[in-house]
Amino acid sequence: MTEIPARPRTVPRAPDFRVMKEEGRPIAVLTCYDALMAGILDGAGVDMILVGDSLGQVVLGHDSTLPVTVDDMIRHAGAVVRGAPHTFVVVDLPFMAARVSEEDTLRSAGRILRETGARAVKLEGGDPRAVATVRRLVEAGIPVQGHLGLTPQSVHTLGGYRVQGRGEEAARVLLESARALEDAGCFSVVLELVPGPLAREVSEALRIPVIGIGAGAHCDGQVLVLPDALGLNPGFTPRFLRRFADLHGEALRGVEAYLEAVRDGSFPGPEHTFDADSG
Ligand code: KIV
Repeated sequence: MTEIPARPRTVPRAPDFRVMKEEGRPIAVLTCYDALMAGILDGAGVDMILVGDSLGQVVLGHDSTLPVTVDDMIRHAGAVVRGAPHTFVVVDLPFMAARVSEEDTLRSAGRILRETGARAVKLEGGDPRAVATVRRLVEAGIPVQGHLGLTPQSVHTLGGYRVQGRGEEAARVLLESARALEDAGCFSVVLELVPGPLAREVSEALRIPVIGIGAGAHCDGQVLVLPDALGLNPGFTPRFLRRFADLHGEALRGVEAYLEAVRDGSFPGPEHTFDADSG
């Protein structure tokens, strides 16, 4: 049997992703919310895990990210870090955690890193206030990932989950915001739902890596929401999504097989049953 060389098992540091960009190595990112799945991602060698506030929709059953709290993020991020001890984990600052004051944001980001062991936080938005907050966090030694384009925490202001940065002025503003986030010290930026040519322009303009979702092929990396990528959520069919597995179908077939086995008496069998006289 061929021996597969072991991957280096040290957790990357934020600047390592810039080296990946410089070397033209695509950065593969997935979201995750629990220890079991985190172990799978860690074992498979994902480059970075994002504990996204998409937690609100895909795990907690809300219809947006807005109800998610810092405590929710800490509970789930802690589980992910414990399940993926070799992977760089980024945690979303949830709705309003980065909007009340810079001091408040600093406290929340500090709690997230201290209480979970994650390596970085992600903060949505590129307006001057968001940029100033990023600068403050970076000065305090906290690696920050920016997030531009569709920023789901502003879904009500943006008027829905729709493509951003269309038209000359919107594209100019987005590019300027990306530059400002880089200058403020972000180690990478997520670009969500923007036209492919604009995402390419932003990726080429920045030295830090741009991680796209619904932003085409010319970003430095890609991120998908894990349950969407694995087909756990068959009702969600946006154009940008490819399903890499059919976990919904597999899980349904497994649950149906279990129900049948219990109901027809074939489970548990003798092999699942303890004898009275053996340990
Ligand atoms: O919350 C999330 O999962 C995200 C990704 C969609 C980038 O922000």
